[in-house]
Amino acid sequence: MKIFRWLFLISAIALVVSCRSQQQQSAAPAGPVPVGTVREVMRGIVDPSADVLFNAVSTTISAAGVEDRQPRTDEEWELVQRGALTLVEAANLLVLPRRVAHPEEENTSAAPEELTPAEIQKKIDANREAWVKHVLQLQSVATQALKTTQARDPQALFDVGEHIEKACESCHMEFWYPDDVRPF
Ligand code: HEC
Repeated sequence: MKIFRWLFLISAIALVVSCRSQQQQSAAPAGPVPVGTVREVMRGIVDPSADVLFNAVSTTISAAGVEDRQPRTDEEWELVQRGALTLVEAANLLVLPRRVAHPEEENTSAAPEELTPAEIQKKIDANREAWVKHVLQLQSVATQALKTTQARDPQALFDVGEHIEKACESCHMEFWYPDDVRPF
């Protein structure tokens, strides 16, 4: 009699444990979950980190004289380096398939020559290879920028800026405003 009770208890515990582990399995995501849209990643991550790099080095000539702007202190170099690393890693975010925009933004575009998010989505789905190629190009030039910040070479950092702009622009011209020619 006692043995039966024990068996019952043990199988009851086994049942509870297996149910719980199944629950945990179904609660855990199968992989990374994209939350932001392409538009949000551009606005919140890609654009601000690229701006850090674009604005890091400049020469301004005015009545007051020539002002050379460049990172000088450890903190200033650290900030630019973070911008470069953010841009490198933002490329990885763009490889993970994600919506171009939220459903309620499906038909919003700022200018008539821009494709709508729905149209952009179709283009990406039809040619993911080209999308990823542009992303990898961005990652490659951002990695060059990262190296110039590690070497603390302001001239090289300035020069790589042009290549970054090209990487942005070539993707925008294919996927965002293929009917238009203008800087982003
Ligand atoms: C792999 C393709 C790709 C690359 C590379 C890329 N973009 Fe974009 N970007 C897009 C697409 C697609 C949109 C349009 C999304 C939408 O409909 O809002 C966009 C939109 C934007 C926007 C507008 C976001 C808004 O608020 O509506 C900005 C700003 C932007 N990109 C900046 C950049 C910069 C700066 C770079 C380079 C450092 C860059 N992008 C590289 C694909 C790309």
